[in-house]
Amino acid sequence: MKRIAVMTTGGDAPGMNAAIRSVVRCGCASGVEVMGVFRGWWGLINEELKPFNHRSVSGIINQGGTILKTQRCHEFNTEEGQQRAFNTVKKYDIEGLIVIGGNGSFAAAHRFYQKYGVPCIGIAASIDNDVNGIDMTIGSDTAINTALAAIDNIRDTATSMERVFVVEVMGRGCGYIALSVALAGGCEDVIIPEIKYDISKICHDIVNGNLKGKISWIVVLAEGVAKAADITKQISEITSLECRAVTLGHIQRGGRPTAVSRDLALHLGKAAVDRLLAGETDKAVGFVKGEISAVDFEKAIMKKEFNVGRWYNLIKILS
Ligand code: F6P
Repeated sequence: MKRIAVMTTGGDAPGMNAAIRSVVRCGCASGVEVMGVFRGWWGLINEELKPFNHRSVSGIINQGGTILKTQRCHEFNTEEGQQRAFNTVKKYDIEGLIVIGGNGSFAAAHRFYQKYGVPCIGIAASIDNDVNGIDMTIGSDTAINTALAAIDNIRDTATSMERVFVVEVMGRGCGYIALSVALAGGCEDVIIPEIKYDISKICHDIVNGNLKGKISWIVVLAEGVAKAADITKQISEITSLECRAVTLGHIQRGGRPTAVSRDLALHLGKAAVDRLLAGETDKAVGFVKGEISAVDFEKAIMKKEFNVGRWYNLIKILS
């Protein structure tokens, strides 16, 4: 291959910039030209791309977000949008694509490869850690630490004012962020999409805990299940305790990537370039059981399987 292109698509995740840096510099080191595509699939459709070199990615390793910009591109779901994206690929002699993103990005890359035969390798980046078959996505460690810092702060006011808090975290249909912050934050309960919750049981535990002298209670709620305000209202009505709702929202998506997110991104950037140049396609690179590996897009976009019970049970034992 003489020329490849890199893009970021879907929701941004801290560490995407480190992944771009790695792709560009590893590409240059392998003697291949790397084009940067702006705003994901939109950039291919609208010819928003330019050649990147070693210097194009200076000073970005510690920055959150993505210098390539990103968006969820609905136009790419249309026949016309896909054809225009392919026209750009042909016009610029792009022989392979590296797509940095999550499930939605990989589903799109899979379709693009199936339809036009353009080799695509994905790099799993999403705060949700919801890509099936790989240990961790770029950005999830940073988001979890951001949410954890917020939970620690909430704990201070929760214990001081002896209140119940329901803290809603991101994660779309996956409970990974919620489980991770609930465990690390010493939270008393967690509500996630993977396990059916019982509001009367949660309230029973809170009241029982109160009788035993427990003075604060934090319930972490994954956004895919319900709204924090609704759960808070229910708990308050059933227990008659003072409750507050907090929705952490997009602060979880920003900020300086942690060392874990950066290292992951830098390793995976190289792995993506190496595999694309070796003729591999239609798969996402990621760590699998601690080793760099790759998972077919078709498997990566399925519902993430992980040991939910191990986290959930430990949170309950330790609460
Ligand atoms: O997929 C990442 C994510 O942050 C999810 O956790 C969340 O549901 C979604 O993106 C929010 O998307 P948007 O920024 O488009 O509102």
